Amino acid sequence: MALIQLTGHLICTSAAERQAVLAHLPAHIGATVREPGCLFFDIAQSADPMVWTVSEGFASRADFDAHQARTAASPWAAATRTIKRVYEMGEATPEITTETTTDARAIGLMTQTAFGGPDEAQLIAALRTDGDLALSLVARFGRACLGHVAFSPLTAPVKAWALAPVSVRKPCRRQGIGTDLIRAGIQIARAQGVEALLVLGDPAYYGRFGFSVAAAQGLRTPYDGPHLQALSLSGAHLPAGEITYPPAFAAL
Ligand SMILES: CC(C)(COP(=O)(O)OP(=O)(O)OC[C@H]1O[C@@H](n2cnc3c(N)ncnc32)[C@H](O)[C@@H]1OP(=O)(O)O)[C@@H](O)C(=O)NCCC(=O)NCCS
Repeated sequence: MALIQLTGHLICTSAAERQAVLAHLPAHIGATVREPGCLFFDIAQSADPMVWTVSEGFASRADFDAHQARTAASPWAAATRTIKRVYEMGEATPEITTETTTDARAIGLMTQTAFGGPDEAQLIAALRTDGDLALSLVARFGRACLGHVAFSPLTAPVKAWALAPVSVRKPCRRQGIGTDLIRAGIQIARAQGVEALLVLGDPAYYGRFGFSVAAAQGLRTPYDGPHLQALSLSGAHLPAGEITYPPAFAAL
């Protein structure tokens, strides 16, 4: 499974074709962005009033094929059948980058949808406001935010960060995006001299990154239990001791 990207142009050669685009495009865009596998769908008139630039992103080939099938039977297809289309289509990989000042809203919306409630999105927002977002990574595809992971500083016997939360948009899961976000975070944490990462979650998922319940033995946190896991980035055994989370966690 891979992301699908399509770019190109829609080129009208008559006033009637141009009129057909103007009349049917808003409904076509509206129906497409409601498809669960559509990640972005941008069709904009270029400087030439007869030409529209097209930029589309879908979560998978199956989602793109479903879009094509729906479109083929739509009023848009019937009205714009004769219009010339010059498209390039291919597989794409999201880019993992640190969040920018304009990402907060998209991260919040994506996180709330991924978790089915506001708590985790509110945690990220509170960490950001409090200056406790040590690292915030976004998986980007075009203008879409497909996934996010946050790391925040802990008060601990060694320099340590908490990994939480991590989420990926539902139609884009099981493509390795969560793995890429977490691996990138681990690499940056190590480069910044972080000695330990802590996470609360399913050991079946976090075990693949080297987190273990055993490594967290001896750490005292408000979240002690079978879901607390640690990863030593220095390779050294983590010393026992008290761990304090940033205040924003208390509200979760
Ligand atoms: C967890 C999550 C971030 C994984 O994202 P992803 O991009 O699908 O992850 P990857 O593609 O890198 O890895 C997918 C693998 O993780 C497994 N996995 C996903 N969630 C899991 C979970 N909660 N427990 C155990 N395994 C899990 C999948 O079964 C899959 O296994 P496979 O590789 O053996 O097929 C995503 O499922 C998500 O956003 N879930 C909702 C939010 C959430 O629960 N976050 C984690 C809180 S602890």
